This record gives sequence, C-alpha cells and structure tokens, in this order.
Amino acid sequence: MASILHIDSSPRGDRSKSRKLAKEFIVAWQDLHPDDAIAYRDLRQTPVPHVTEDWIAAAFTPPKALTPEMAELLKFSDELVDEFLAADRCVFSVPMYNFSIPSNFKAYIDQVVRVGRTFTEEDGQVKGLANGKKVLFITSRGVEYGAGSPYEGWDCQEPALRYAFQFMGVTDLQFIHANGLDMGDEAQKRGLDEAQSKIQELVNSW
Ligand SMILES: Cc1cc2nc3c(=O)[nH]c(=O)nc-3n(C[C@H](O)[C@H](O)[C@H](O)COP(=O)(O)O)c2cc1C
Repeated sequence: MASILHIDSSPRGDRSKSRKLAKEFIVAWQDLHPDDAIAYRDLRQTPVPHVTEDWIAAAFTPPKALTPEMAELLKFSDELVDEFLAADRCVFSVPMYNFSIPSNFKAYIDQVVRVGRTFTEEDGQVKGLANGKKVLFITSRGVEYGAGSPYEGWDCQEPALRYAFQFMGVTDLQFIHANGLDMGDEAQKRGLDEAQSKIQELVNSW
C-alpha cells in the first residue's frame, strides 16, 4: 500500500482544467490501487502563507534553539513538510501563470524547501532529503510551447518545478502538460486529449 499526496493549486474551482485532469489521474489510479491512501490538499481552500522575515529566521534556527514563538511560526510549514515526506508519490496540479507557476504553489514550495527537513548542507554541498518518492505534475496552459510555436522556449514553469523538487532530492519527476487550453475549442480539445492519453498511459506504468 502506497501513500499518495494529491495537491490542487488552481484558484479556480469547477472550471479548472488542471484539477479535472489530476482528478482523472487519481480516480483511475484508485481503480487500480484501491488500497493506496490518498491525502488531499487544496491550496484554494487552504492558502499557504508567504514566508516572512521572522519565518526565515525561525527556519534557519537549529531545532534545539527554537523559541516557542519560532516553533509556532513553523507549525504549518512542519505540517506541510511531514505530509510531503510521508508520501511515496505526489500528484500536483499546477496551472501556468505568467510563464511560471501561480504564487500559491510557489508559496507551498517556499514552505516545504526547509533546511534540515527536506535538504541539508554538508561541506558546502546541498543534499536533498526527500529521496525515493515519485512526483507527477499535471499542468494546464493557455497557449502552446512546442517547436515552432510563438512561445517556444518561454516555459519557465517546468524548470521552476523541476529544480525546486530536484533540490529536495526528488529524482523521479514526471510532467503531463495540457497545452493550448485558451486557444479555441479545437486546440483545447487537442490539448486535453493529449494530456488524457498520457494520464492513461502513466496510470498503467507509474
Ligand atoms: C493570471 C493568469 C496568468 C496566465 N498566464 C499564462 C501564461 O503565461 N501562459 C499560458 O500558457 N497560459 C497562461 N494562463 C492561462 C492558464 O494557464 C490556463 O487558462 C489554464 O487552463 C489555467 O488552469 P486551470 O484551468 O486549472 O485554472 C494564465 C491564466 C491566468 C488566470
């Protein structure tokens, strides 16, 4: 039995394509793995706060030196880190915003990339501590990014996600991008069909 962490980040509810695709993945996964435990978090319902100066000071204070106030400041971050570390596999749905990720998912990353918890520094070298898990990102984008498209090379979303999670030691990263969702019905159907067929493939091979 595996533990799955499923997080949606679109500020949109029922109209969100990334949520819908992630749900399709999870429903198909549950059909195949009914005993897996799924933890669900919705960043729309429970927004993640931005880090503050006091939070940063607390995050870089050794655990034994934390004051009760500092520990309190880190409480939600600790909860997010515990949840992330406990998962064998993560399914994150993330829309593209301004060629990168929405600020709520960036805030989530800032809360889980924690020294001593998800990475450590030894002799000037960073070592990720979130090893051995699989992470799948299902993204939704308004336009297309393939070779020859006007926005070829503008995708800062996949690198932003890839490097943050690699930094924490995740080596098994998968991306399913639904492109062209705001380019008319035909392009939207094509983008969704392609993403859905990749979802079906990955459900059987992940
Ligand atoms: C604030 C905002 C910024 C966006 N920026 C981009 C962008 O840079 N590139 C892009 O391809 N689509 C962009 N889009 C379109 C969304 O990625 C697209 O509508 C996607 O389906 C949103 O995900 P959701 O349906 O899960 O909410 C943007 C949408 C919004 C609301």
